[in-house]
Amino acid sequence: MLKIRYKNENSYFQYTHQVKIPAHIIDRIKTSALIEEVISDFLPLQKKGQNLWACCPFHDEKSPSFSVAPSKGIFKCFGCGKAGDSITFVMEHEGVSYPEAIRYLADKYHIEIPEGSREEQEEAQAEEKQRESLLIALKFGHDYFQNKLWESDEGKSIGLSYFKERGFHERTIKRFELGYSLDDWHALETQAIAQKYSPDILEEAGLIIKKEGKQYDRFRGRVMFPIHNLSGRVIGFGARTLRKDDKPKYLNSPESLVYEKSKVLYGLFQAKQEIRKQDESLMVEGYTDVISLAQEGIENVVASSGTSLTEGQIKLLKRFSTNITVIYDGDNAGLKAAMRGIDLILAEGMDVRAIALPEGQDPDSQVRKMGGEAFKAYIQREKKDFLRFKTEIYLKETANDPIAKAKAIGEIVRSIIKIPDAIKRMMFFKQCSEMLAVDEQTLVSEGNKILNRERLEEQRRNKRTQQAEKNKDISPPPADGIPLPDISAMPEELLDDIEGLPPITITEKIPLTEDKKESKSISKTSLELYEQELMRLMIRYGYIAIEAEYYVAQYILEEMQVMPTNPHLATIYKTFVEAVQRGERPPSPEQLLHTIDADAQHTASNLLLDRHVISPNWEKRYDIYTPHESDILNKVSYRNLLHLKLRILQKLEKENLEHIRKAESDTAALELLKTHQQLKIAIKEIAELLEIVIYNKN
Ligand code: CTP
Ligand code: MN
Repeated sequence: MLKIRYKNENSYFQYTHQVKIPAHIIDRIKTSALIEEVISDFLPLQKKGQNLWACCPFHDEKSPSFSVAPSKGIFKCFGCGKAGDSITFVMEHEGVSYPEAIRYLADKYHIEIPEGSREEQEEAQAEEKQRESLLIALKFGHDYFQNKLWESDEGKSIGLSYFKERGFHERTIKRFELGYSLDDWHALETQAIAQKYSPDILEEAGLIIKKEGKQYDRFRGRVMFPIHNLSGRVIGFGARTLRKDDKPKYLNSPESLVYEKSKVLYGLFQAKQEIRKQDESLMVEGYTDVISLAQEGIENVVASSGTSLTEGQIKLLKRFSTNITVIYDGDNAGLKAAMRGIDLILAEGMDVRAIALPEGQDPDSQVRKMGGEAFKAYIQREKKDFLRFKTEIYLKETANDPIAKAKAIGEIVRSIIKIPDAIKRMMFFKQCSEMLAVDEQTLVSEGNKILNRERLEEQRRNKRTQQAEKNKDISPPPADGIPLPDISAMPEELLDDIEGLPPITITEKIPLTEDKKESKSISKTSLELYEQELMRLMIRYGYIAIEAEYYVAQYILEEMQVMPTNPHLATIYKTFVEAVQRGERPPSPEQLLHTIDADAQHTASNLLLDRHVISPNWEKRYDIYTPHESDILNKVSYRNLLHLKLRILQKLEKENLEHIRKAESDTAALELLKTHQQLKIAIKEIAELLEIVIYNKN
């Protein structure tokens, strides 16, 4: 498969540019980038009828179901459902961010991006030059180490034979571009200096060390594991000693402009396509684990290697799949790392499963013992969702000790509350209550307590830093001069009220099917009203931060879960989802209006202009809580969200009753009746939260 070519050895995807790309430039890029041209740089396209076709790069297939429609400027795969425009294609295919994709296309179509002030430009250019120099020096080191492994006597007899003894095939050694550093203080240095590499760059790249007027090679007599960035360029090395008594076992490159350890995963460059295809990644601890598994045909593997897992690494992985299985060594350190990793992954809203290997084993030793097929089956059999994983481990440790058990429950609840999705959270509370035989409500309130405490602490912290920076940082006023809610100044009880998790017991995601025939039902009308009201809040206030890097839009999206039925509102909804997924600040009203199509623009401006979209009558009739400007945003959207959920549940209840009436057998009816009960309970709980009585208490 073709990769994006480097222009002057200069990758588009190395840099995160600080300079913002103006909207009119993005528009120009969008109109210039012909989708068939963009995609055909990566895939061979064949014309059939109106459209062009290829085998889908995002999933495994033999016959083409990936189509490109030049007239519409979009691609769509009928196999896996992936679809989008030329920008999304570059993002998805190359695993790069939105601005990176834009830059790539700007370059392809010779559209110049103004780069801010002259000073900024010069600074950015100098940094780019420095990065490029580092990458070139690292490439030199990389070629050098590989050459020594394959060509030198020492490399062949020591390095290569070490790899072979470990069971690495030549094919594997070449695929992971492994190398060897000679056991010599000046071998690399001498050769690099002879080739006119600057000692300063070599030092910054971590290849040589300068100390007390002397300079010498950092890596000596070690086998080398190069670390790649997403576009395949080498940014650092892990180097293993071959002597038992030598410390450290692994010596790693230092951080540099091109190697930020917390944002790099070992093996991701080689694994990314496979992770996407299988929609799952396996997370292991070591370089050799990644390589051994890949050699045995398990290729969706990465390692955090050298650091404990970080948020940045998880965010990186999330671009390729939201499913992670953590496989850690079966010792205490491994387990501890796994536990910590799990919480971080949960906090990113990803689905995490875990496996603890038998004591004393790591994935590398285990796969060599079992072989690839058996190891694959083993993973399938043994992987457990995080809750089961944690619960089993804690229960084993705390058997018959009530105090230890209570502590363990606290730990598990702490993990559950990391999950951003309210409905998933509730599912896990329920499951946890069953597994531990603890009342669900107790778990939920325990969770609320922890959550509120944590948030309060964070807000206090933020407030402190905010105040410290007050003079420096003057943030833009909100759209219409409404003062922002200062949550950190609010009394604790009120926070409980706002941020408590509603105890909604719903066991699965609510599918909101768009059924045209249903559109006359009463609940639909009010449903749409709530949707509209929430979307109005999102458009108007979505870009405002509730906490550091957490915006009103995110809050509403996470809670809302369903796309609005109105197509224009749906467009706007998607714009927000995309911004949030890209990790950007959600658009302000003005920014939003610039990016959406004319129809959506019309809808959005109407919502923005008309303060009293909802008539006082409706307000009474549907108990819609309209935000009067001094209201606290969170509270308003929380209340409206509850209403939205209530209407959805009522709609489901009505449908379900219909199904019961038409049920073909008693057993089927009984099943549906159970659902009916569940829905009723959920509805009642929400209603209670809203303090409105829907059902007579019975
Ligand atoms: N590691 C490190 N520095 C060390 C030790 C370990 O950076 N001093 C990292 C390496 O990425 C290593 C991983 O932690 O791959 C796991 O360490 P360990 O289990 O000790 O090594 P293995 O990967 O199992 O290596 P081997 O099988 O060669 O012993
Ligand atoms: Mn090992």
